[in-house]
Amino acid sequence: MKVVLAYSGGLDTSICIRWLMEEYRAEVVSLTLEVGQEESDLEQIEEKARELGAVETYSIDAREEFVNEFINPSIKANGFYEKVYPLSTALARPLISKYLVEIAEKEKADAVAHGSTGKGNDQVRFELAVRALNPELDIIAPAREWDLTRDEAVDYARKHDIPVPVKKKSPYSIDVNLWGRSVEAGPLEDLANEPGEEVYSWTTSPEKAPDKPEYIELEFNEGIPSALNGEERSGVGLIKELNRLGGKHGIGRIDTVEDRLVGIKSREVYECPAASIILKAHSDLEKLTLSREENLFKEIVDSRWSQMVYFGQWHEPLKSDLEAFINESQRVVSGKLRMKLYKGNVYVTGRESPNSLYDLGLATYDRGDRFDHRLAEGFVKLWGLPSEIAARKKMR
Ligand code: ARG
Repeated sequence: MKVVLAYSGGLDTSICIRWLMEEYRAEVVSLTLEVGQEESDLEQIEEKARELGAVETYSIDAREEFVNEFINPSIKANGFYEKVYPLSTALARPLISKYLVEIAEKEKADAVAHGSTGKGNDQVRFELAVRALNPELDIIAPAREWDLTRDEAVDYARKHDIPVPVKKKSPYSIDVNLWGRSVEAGPLEDLANEPGEEVYSWTTSPEKAPDKPEYIELEFNEGIPSALNGEERSGVGLIKELNRLGGKHGIGRIDTVEDRLVGIKSREVYECPAASIILKAHSDLEKLTLSREENLFKEIVDSRWSQMVYFGQWHEPLKSDLEAFINESQRVVSGKLRMKLYKGNVYVTGRESPNSLYDLGLATYDRGDRFDHRLAEGFVKLWGLPSEIAARKKMR
């Protein structure tokens, strides 16, 4: 049988290659996607896969597609799971799945495989997406079947001539893409432990960040960031630049306990400078340009959209129904935000939009006030009428 494996070049997916060859007598085709892991040299990874026994190897730079088809929709939806996690890992999984299916069809493979364990969300995301795109393909999850501890995995690797990093293997499980770094396990499993500095690699600690704030101007066009400091910038370049700038100021460190789909609560640490800046700016601009009713309703739609992405339902029809609403709402979300980056925080300090619904004549407490105060009296009375009637009834 032939299997296409999502291969990162790391220890676990390297073991997967050997394990699929041994346990399934499979011909393994490796597929590596560049989604902004930065450390990855694609040629080297392909080379390594071949050395381990892969019959064919693929690598694809999918960063632009990741931004256009996954990150941008998430910006429009203010994508946060449980209000704090910008979905970075979750967003990349359906993209990897898409290419798994494409290569499997091209290679006439019988199955696809991924390195996720049975405890996490990623298995769900890979498998639901693969099944939505080609339900005929079998799916193999070696790490779910082999049930090895970290130490046993290292032993297996040594026995099978799989290169193990010389320095002591990091105790953390790390996933990286353009939209953020996710770190879990090791000392983080004890909720009392503050994450050590070694957990972070994109951000300076806020304590060590510059003492002087840095101001930036971020522009949006219909919900999507389009310029930085007056210069047209978008896509991969813009996100990389904001990761750098935000990182320098200690922005985007997130330490949270999260509800996984499989029912486990887990400690997660994220590092998402660009996402923190962009999402803060985007939701701020929506407040200025959408009506009150839209803003209140969109909160519900956004949080539902985010849940679906987190839960692996990228291809669920409801998600695209929600996107119809989200996309329609973004037509007016254009404008410029001045922002201050300072010691782990990002502040919006100035706002400007051709679609601004802010009306100074109505808002001002100074001269020039056009708001009719007398109308308020009757309005307040009627607004409170239902509650008043209920309260009176109770008193009787
Ligand atoms: N908890 C996050 C999520 O479910 C991140 C998972 C990170 N994966 C990893 N191998 N560290 O999206």
